[in-house]
Amino acid sequence: MMKNIKIKGLLAAVVAVSAIISSAHAATSTGPKPPRNEYTSAGIFGKWDYASIQRGFQVYVEVCSACHSLELVAFRSLEDIGYSEDEVKAIALEYEFAELDEFGDETFRTGLPSDYFPAPFENDIQARASNNGSLPPDFSTMVKAREHLSFFPWASTYGEDYIVALMEGYEDEVPADAPEGFELGDGMYFNYYFPDYATAMAPPLFDDMVVYEDGTPATIHQMAYDIANFMAWASDPTMQERKELGLRVMLFMFVFVILLYFTNKRVWSKVKKGDDIDPSKL
Ligand code: HEC
Repeated sequence: MMKNIKIKGLLAAVVAVSAIISSAHAATSTGPKPPRNEYTSAGIFGKWDYASIQRGFQVYVEVCSACHSLELVAFRSLEDIGYSEDEVKAIALEYEFAELDEFGDETFRTGLPSDYFPAPFENDIQARASNNGSLPPDFSTMVKAREHLSFFPWASTYGEDYIVALMEGYEDEVPADAPEGFELGDGMYFNYYFPDYATAMAPPLFDDMVVYEDGTPATIHQMAYDIANFMAWASDPTMQERKELGLRVMLFMFVFVILLYFTNKRVWSKVKKGDDIDPSKL
């Protein structure tokens, strides 16, 4: 009886604590919860969808990189998402980097696979000046930064879903269901999913903005989904290796526990049987 009460108390405490944690997360974000999408990278067997990540990379280069940097990703890392060494070299060649020559004068050289993606603006001041005072954040860890994991999976918000929802959450005019007294400032855009509904980022995507090599129709949703997958990879490039290693460790532990069980049984079998044990024979 006593034990039962203790377990019930413990369960109640766990539920209470996790409810507090998840409501704290809910309080940090305004607006509706982003709808869930399916990602091959989700779950313990998660694998990257390289075709989608490569399409997302194209969207980044052709659209988002005009404003958003990707500081923690080197060109050579693109080999991880299925580009060959030569393709990576060709991608790096598209970029220019400032250098000083032997006389101390500024010159330019083309990119190398070991270079990191260059930022679109000189510094934050220039970035803000070009964006109505707001700073376009770096993409390298954005998916992780916008992820709010809760004890309950259904209360969690995933960074990928937020990106997709943000891309699709624009309204041309302030809608009737906007919060009371909401006013859109100059040069701001209404978006259901951006905190406080007003963002300085103009809707970045339009249907058929890019032409995908694999023929996938470039709808806003498709491009948003692909860029979200690309950004998820950038945020957590070793996800697949980590999960594979985790599964192997679990499998090992499983076999190891079975072996331990029988070893334990055998070691103690004589004692259990109640045989007289002669310590000198142990
Ligand atoms: C013309 C410049 C510009 C382009 C192009 C652009 N953005 Fe932005 N983006 C911004 C600015 C400015 C902000 C900051 C908005 C603010 O603070 O109101 C921003 C913010 C964001 C955020 C952060 C939202 C948050 O929760 O803080 C995400 C995610 C984002 N952009 C995704 C994208 C994606 C994906 C693309 C490409 C499809 C893209 N952006 C293209 C200017 C741009």
